[in-house]
Amino acid sequence: EKGGYEHFMLKEIHEQPKAYRDTMRGRTNAEGNKVILPELNLTEEQIKNIRNIQIVACGTAYNAGLVGRNLIESLVRIPVENDIASEYRYRSPIVTPETLVIVVSQSGETADTLAALREGQANGAHVLAITNVVGSSIAREANSVLVTLAGPEIAVASTKAYTSQLIAFTLLGLYLAEVRDTQSEPEVAKILAAMQSLPEQVEVILAQKDAIKAYAEQIAEHHHLFFIGRGVDYAVAQEGSLKLKEISYIHSEAYAAGELKHGTLALIEEGVPVIALATQESVLEKTVSNIKEVKARGAHVLAVTHEEHKNDLLRSVDEVFVIPQTLPLLTSALSVVTLQLLAYYASLALGHDVDKPRNLAKSVTVE
Ligand code: F6R
Repeated sequence: EKGGYEHFMLKEIHEQPKAYRDTMRGRTNAEGNKVILPELNLTEEQIKNIRNIQIVACGTAYNAGLVGRNLIESLVRIPVENDIASEYRYRSPIVTPETLVIVVSQSGETADTLAALREGQANGAHVLAITNVVGSSIAREANSVLVTLAGPEIAVASTKAYTSQLIAFTLLGLYLAEVRDTQSEPEVAKILAAMQSLPEQVEVILAQKDAIKAYAEQIAEHHHLFFIGRGVDYAVAQEGSLKLKEISYIHSEAYAAGELKHGTLALIEEGVPVIALATQESVLEKTVSNIKEVKARGAHVLAVTHEEHKNDLLRSVDEVFVIPQTLPLLTSALSVVTLQLLAYYASLALGHDVDKPRNLAKSVTVE
């Protein structure tokens, strides 16, 4: 059942190229310059009238929503808020019929996310569910459903569901951009072509697993560490940190790279591992200055970046993992795979039950 892999998590990490392809399949036109999403169940007019978007979810699905916000705001220029589902309805969110509420849930059964869906509907919003389970409670109650086709996810730590959610958000962003005319056809075609390469690029990262394992064995000796990044790299840092905590029980924090010096820098001391995501060319220099701040305090820094920046970064960091070249908008679908493997091998090195971490359940049906 584990298809020759030692754990479901490792199997599911390796299923990501297929999950990307399956989630994209049939959702573009033959020319490859348009996204087709009839399941959104929204008229052109409704889409043009959207004033704001709220993405509501828990845990890893919430983290996918952080990337989703980045994608939608860049592609469509609609303001997006991210909400943790257990907070959403208690903060009296400002929802109108022109709000699109997007709930994200692998299982489709998370109690708080379901309650958020009902809160959105009670205020007259259209609620779109991004879920991996077609017959789930969330899928049944939502106004429309964008299914991720990751296949069943067994390991408690979500991997392929998260990355399929990223693919779904990208398709959604492109579709909204078409209808609202915020991206040109050639631009959409360029992004879709780059998306087609993601599955084989994930394979390239999977092939680096020995190096990632060796680094994971080093960090397994530490009690806490940091993930830093800017923009979408910060969103991915949050997922990397959650994954590591959840299965290796090593404490970590994800920080917006520029925010460290406002307090948390006090925790950096000799030898503390800092994993810096540095995939965004537009803020690379800024991230490098933040890397220098932690290096100067003795941190041991690993950077995750593109090949073209490797040599540059090696001047300021201790180690570099490279991800294949893609558009800045799409790096999350690659960089997170490195962090998933890191969490996996750290957990393995510490002898934990990778697929069934303590205190956690796959589906959380209590509020
Ligand atoms: C972490 C993890 C959890 C879930 C969260 C929401 O790896 O799996 O954080 O993401 O419990 O679950 P779903 O997506 O089923 O609503």
